[in-house]
Amino acid sequence: MSKTKIAVFASGTGSNYDAVIEAAKSGVLDAEVALLVSDKPNAKVVEKAKQNQTPTFIFDPKNYDGKDAFEADIVEKLQEKEIEWVILAGYMRLIGDTLLKPFEGRIINIHPSLLPAFPGLDAIGQAFDAGVKVSGVTIHYVDEGMDTGKIIAQEAVQVEDDMTREDLQKAIQKVEHRLYPETIQQIISRGE
Ligand code: GRF
Repeated sequence: MSKTKIAVFASGTGSNYDAVIEAAKSGVLDAEVALLVSDKPNAKVVEKAKQNQTPTFIFDPKNYDGKDAFEADIVEKLQEKEIEWVILAGYMRLIGDTLLKPFEGRIINIHPSLLPAFPGLDAIGQAFDAGVKVSGVTIHYVDEGMDTGKIIAQEAVQVEDDMTREDLQKAIQKVEHRLYPETIQQIISRGE
């Protein structure tokens, strides 16, 4: 049987892309990363995808007449590659109807806080500045809102008194890199 094909969407460093690739290699995740989509041609994750020989669709939104236009191109690529699941991993854009409709219930995101606390940008900084004692990681389905979709998995991370913001970021990333591949595997094996 052929493996489930997933696409990873990322705009930045791609440490979660790395974790998904590693999990697919080790067998923790029984899926093929058949496409990396990025809206940032110079992002580190794009370099990583080339090294790993992951097929890519890299676009610059400036070359398009709005979100509908670039999302239509993305959908075409996803369909061409027979992608079943879209995995957002630091993709810094809201998903619009053009992409959401054909992949309804098949797009998931990871967010570095315990949603609904601290949605949006710099969730780790927001949590740190708020002085919370517990933050964490949330994996959720994507809807049209900002980090508002149905929650699939969450894991708490303690914010120790002597932690810096960077320490908290490291602790959260460590959880992300384990929890995301595990959760993706659970979802694709249930075929939800
Ligand atoms: C992660 O913290 C993820 O939770 C958030 O964006 C960050 C992406 O980091 N959505 P990376 O590019 O995977 O290193």
